[in-house]
Amino acid sequence: MQKILTIVGARPQFIKCAPVSRVLRKSAVEVLIHTGQHYDDNMSEAFFRELDIPKPNYNLGVGSASHGVQTGEMLKGIEDVLVKERPDVVLVYGDTNSTLAGALAASKMHIPVAHVEAGLRSFNRRMPEEINRVVTDHLSDQLFCPTETSVKHLAQEGISKGVHLVGDVMYDSLLYNVKVAEAKSTILERLRLRSKEYCLATVHRAENTDDAGRLQAILEAFREISKTYPVVWPVHPRTRKILQTLDASFITSPSPDQALRLSEPVSYLDMLALERRARVILTDSGGVQKEAYWLRVPCVTLREETEWVETLELGWNQIVGTDVGAIQRAAHRPIPPEPIAQPFGNGRSAEAIVAALLR
Ligand code: UD1
Ligand code: UDP
Repeated sequence: MQKILTIVGARPQFIKCAPVSRVLRKSAVEVLIHTGQHYDDNMSEAFFRELDIPKPNYNLGVGSASHGVQTGEMLKGIEDVLVKERPDVVLVYGDTNSTLAGALAASKMHIPVAHVEAGLRSFNRRMPEEINRVVTDHLSDQLFCPTETSVKHLAQEGISKGVHLVGDVMYDSLLYNVKVAEAKSTILERLRLRSKEYCLATVHRAENTDDAGRLQAILEAFREISKTYPVVWPVHPRTRKILQTLDASFITSPSPDQALRLSEPVSYLDMLALERRARVILTDSGGVQKEAYWLRVPCVTLREETEWVETLELGWNQIVGTDVGAIQRAAHRPIPPEPIAQPFGNGRSAEAIVAALLR
């Protein structure tokens, strides 16, 4: 049997690896490394429990630090494991520092690298994720692309060998879990929310959290929108840390009756339930933009560009940056017509990835 060594470390990577791991373990040996990039229970362990992801064989416990320190520590820890395990392939996901460290450690040891979610580009090199994606793609031997656009991006950079158009594994995850979420999640009752009568928000992108002006504008927009509909906001720890430094007393004592309701990060099933019943989703997350599209909830993207250009089709997603008026207008726009295209595959990407990996 082939030995595949999977590297994950951040919340969206747990959600992406779950369906692949499930299929992979039927016909290969999987060794799982958790870098420890995310470590709070509600950012890490909770996803392993809820999605039945096997316990990692190694947890490097790297934690939070500057990009250089964090990536460097991962590189060292991953190399030690690779020396010991000698896998046939190293499998990495997405565009975090854990992705980059995994690809770099493996390629220096001449171990083939497979990248799930290859070819995504924002064309904004100020995003740490853009640097991670570009470098990882250029180090990878197998590139699993979610969309035709991502295949094209790779071709433009001269990469065509080992490229597979497989669809989006997050769609696999969503389809597998959305009914379970509907049956099991009680979050709407707990928060006393009525279907389609609240907005859902998430914010964690460095460009928004590390720029006080942009974060203040987002807060202002949320406060305005919450005069019409409650805004439910599960806050990423990065953002919570920064909000605590702002003079914003309304964020410290959330109650179910408040219009702007901040909470700790929620579980994946609760998140799917919240997304599905939201009237509109306001976000700078990559994954949440796609989930909004799949669940047919209008999305307002608090960024200047998106990698997921397919979601813009027919107005399901709108890029508005952080202009308060533009965010409000986009949040109150009418429901767009049903999209015609199915640009993210058929929800069976994990099978396609594993088949190509083991071929
Ligand atoms: C990382 C990824 C980003 C991804 C996001 C998903 C990079 C460069 N960024 O961003 O692409 O979209 O994960 O959520 O890899 N923190 C905690 N507890 C945790 C994790 C983080 O308190 O469990 C706080 C720490 O203060 C930390 C900060 O959040 O410094 C940022 O965490 P980090 O993993 O460096 O980046 P993210 O913003 O989470
Ligand atoms: N998510 C979650 N709980 C939350 C916020 C997000 O389960 O409180 C899920 C969300 O449904 C999606 C993924 O986390 O599947 C997106 O991760 P994130 O926004 O952290 O990262 P990005 O996709 O921007 O890299």
